[in-house]
Amino acid sequence: MLPLLQHFSLSTTCHLLMKVLIYSAHEYERPFLTHAAQGKHELQLESRALGAATAELARGYEAVVIFTNDDASAPVLEQLQALGVRYVAVRAAGHDQVDSAAAQRLGLRVCNVPNYSPYAVAEHTVALMLALNRQLLRAQANMRRSDFRLDQLVGFNLHGKTVGIIGCGKIGGVLAGILQGFGCQLLAYDLYPNPEFVQRYGLRYVPFEELCATSDIISLHVPLVPATHYLMNADTLARCKSTAMLINTGRGGLVDTRAALAALRAGRLGYLGLDVYEFEKGRFFEDHSQDAAPDPLLEELLAEPNVLVTGHQAFLTNEALTDIFTTTMASLDAWAQGQPSEHEL
Ligand code: NAI
Repeated sequence: MLPLLQHFSLSTTCHLLMKVLIYSAHEYERPFLTHAAQGKHELQLESRALGAATAELARGYEAVVIFTNDDASAPVLEQLQALGVRYVAVRAAGHDQVDSAAAQRLGLRVCNVPNYSPYAVAEHTVALMLALNRQLLRAQANMRRSDFRLDQLVGFNLHGKTVGIIGCGKIGGVLAGILQGFGCQLLAYDLYPNPEFVQRYGLRYVPFEELCATSDIISLHVPLVPATHYLMNADTLARCKSTAMLINTGRGGLVDTRAALAALRAGRLGYLGLDVYEFEKGRFFEDHSQDAAPDPLLEELLAEPNVLVTGHQAFLTNEALTDIFTTTMASLDAWAQGQPSEHEL
């Protein structure tokens, strides 16, 4: 475990004090956590992820705070409940790692952070688009070798290109605004079209098939639920332009990675930009540089010239981290006072 962060005496904060275990804690989070906590709770940071083998660590804690790659499936939630945990705070927007039905059955209260800076993720999405399109990684590698030739660096203008946004909610909406500035034609596919976006960004809601067939760039921003699992698979990828760029900053399971790699190799997909990866659990957020057996699929992806992968860092800005921990602490404060969290699932 990482050292205890805050332990204030009962006399100063007795009405709020709750023992909280923070799983998957990373050093980059500490200053944001310290700032948001204001000494109200007894917080313990644990670098390991929540799972069947680590649930026991929560003995004696009323609340646990988890992140995207923790395992809050039914058996793990049952363990937590038996240990006396009452609250699970997800410090992320996506909560596909939590079995919400099981939590409800067990009487566990669960919250997330639905509204933290969508700008962080939307801007990273554009960073992936530009870096892939303008071959920035190859350009930098060439530069380092004093190879100043421009062969293999030819990109395309974003201006005038058609971008299809799949899942046009908070992040997709911000992305639409940014891409409008680039002069892109915007298409969106969403279960619940937002008429405001049509007016504000001039985007057009179209059926999924039409979006796939006509977009030069496709960007995924739907949550991962059974209906969206492998939304981009061999079949749907075959309906896309062979030059299309696919960007996924949503969740790894939205894309059948092997199918996307096969499409790239066969010249049926132009570019692939991922911030999330189907098999990232147990790998991303950790240093695996000394591993004897690296992930072969990830290695194969990274060997492709038109693939760019970042390690689930789209959310990683000062502003988003401040929002995440402020909102999480507000939920813990509410629970400690016997109130519901504003963001209960
Ligand atoms: P949101 O809830 O505001 O937007 C999601 C949109 O998807 C909504 O408009 C909804 O109607 C639509 N949608 C849901 N199910 C659908 C379906 N089956 N078919 C079509 N549309 C559907 O969520 P927000 O804040 O924009 O986040 C989107 C996702 O981005 C999150 O669920 C999360 O998985 C991911 N994310 C990734 C981060 C990263 O660091 N890479 C950080 C934050 C979020």
